[in-house]
Amino acid sequence: MRRLILLAGAVLLAGAVAADDRPDPTELMPGGAASVRVARDARAFSQPSATLPFDRLLDFRVGDGVFRKLWVSSPSSTTSSDGLGPLYNARGCQSCHMRDGRGRPPEAGEAASSLLVRLSTPDGRPDPTYGVQLQTFGIQGHPAEGRVVADWSEEVVALAGGETARLRRPAWRIEGWAYGPPAPGVLLSPRVAPPMIGLGLLEAVAEADILAQADPEDRDGDGVSGRAARVRSAHLGTAALGRFGWKALAPTMEDQVADAFSADMGLATRLHPAGWGECTAAQAACRAAPDGAPAPGEPEVDPRLFDLTVFYARNLGVPLRATPTPQALRGRALFRDIGCTACHRPSFTTAQMPGRPEHSGQRIWPYSDLLLHDMGEGLADHRPEGDADGREWRTPPLWGLGHTRTVSGHTQLLHDGRARNALEAVLWHGGEAQAARDRVVGLSPADRAALLAFLDSL
Ligand code: HEC
Ligand code: HEC
Repeated sequence: MRRLILLAGAVLLAGAVAADDRPDPTELMPGGAASVRVARDARAFSQPSATLPFDRLLDFRVGDGVFRKLWVSSPSSTTSSDGLGPLYNARGCQSCHMRDGRGRPPEAGEAASSLLVRLSTPDGRPDPTYGVQLQTFGIQGHPAEGRVVADWSEEVVALAGGETARLRRPAWRIEGWAYGPPAPGVLLSPRVAPPMIGLGLLEAVAEADILAQADPEDRDGDGVSGRAARVRSAHLGTAALGRFGWKALAPTMEDQVADAFSADMGLATRLHPAGWGECTAAQAACRAAPDGAPAPGEPEVDPRLFDLTVFYARNLGVPLRATPTPQALRGRALFRDIGCTACHRPSFTTAQMPGRPEHSGQRIWPYSDLLLHDMGEGLADHRPEGDADGREWRTPPLWGLGHTRTVSGHTQLLHDGRARNALEAVLWHGGEAQAARDRVVGLSPADRAALLAFLDSL
């Protein structure tokens, strides 16, 4: 394997690139030794990390089974799969993280989707009736809380060289609040499901290495600050660095997965023991409905299966990259030179994780600093969450970006899927990223195409 990669590196170096533009040969293995060789097909994000020892592959498969499982309401004859709801967003993890890839906003008139909406009052508390998340489905006898609708408006952006791009701007609203009106001025934050690859590796990046990149006061004066999120971890029982979710709300995989079981599916785990999931005290019938606990006081999700779901979520391999074309290499240099790497930090080396050799000591290429950035008014949801304010988002990793269409059947990007491709995603960048975005507008058409070819090669 290593021989092969070095060889690929040698071919790269033979091309006509300036000395400092020579890619590091390890770039073609974005997940380090955990990277996986995949066909360019719909299964590209669903492979176990190459570093998984053989005797743990079965655990991965069982975790995959839980991830794909469709839960049912209680009481039911299939006791190991019941407890859904009463209110929920989807019946299984895969319903949103389709093929372990990314979700998308709903089409006009579509109810089910892989986008969910978080809620809060203007002063940052959960909505007294609806809680922190809008559940768009309910089991028999429990109406869905409401329906998510986007009204889209189009605008044209002129680019250098006579080109134009069209952006679609969503105005999000909820139709048919079923349990009475929400708090006056309720804040909505729509999110699509992010892809699932390489997450155990991101969890293994040393906190010090992430903090070293943070520059909250922008002391270096480059216009890009970057702030580490400090959030509460139910799993660790203490404050910790937030890493997962569009606003870095979850510090560990256990926190993220327990939140998903509870808020998205209404399933109790050790960390969130309420069988009614996210039903509030105002939703009394929901709280009184039968739950799926196998015995009183036991969580609906068997603790062993919970752990295997966490294991699965940590170990989806990042695809090896193909040797980039000369055009993508040119784009790679532009990506650095116009300032994208100020946030989309190319690489880290993961720490030594006790008991997790499969994630330890890997040079990885996620293209994210895992920090929060002010992305400007255009992307703002005005809803603070965890440590992030209403304009901040965590830099998403860009590894695997070029597989989006084959895995997910679309190329819609950003936290609410408003961008229909990578160029639109960049044109939405504002705030700390305004200067980098403006440079993309000013690139010649050939250079812009090269930048996009680089993104597509990831
Ligand atoms: C209703 C759709 C939906 C369902 C069902 C769902 N997720 Fe998610 N998932 C999301 C969204 C949306 C986010 C981003 C959340 C945020 O921004 O806080 C997310 C984030 C995540 C992340 C963090 C990814 C990252 O890059 O930060 C993981 C891991 C995850 N989900 C695992 C799961 C697991 C495991 C399940 C099943 C127990 C599950 N999800 C069920 C929509 C869903
Ligand atoms: C100031 C930090 C910052 C800079 C500079 C920056 N980005 Fe981003 N990027 C982000 C954040 C944060 C998001 C997520 C925003 C959202 O979803 O609302 C993002 C999202 C993206 C996405 C979509 C990813 C996804 O999973 O949906 C792409 C593609 C992207 N950036 C490319 C670029 C390129 C190319 C450049 C350079 C022109 C660049 N970015 C510069 C912070 C930055």
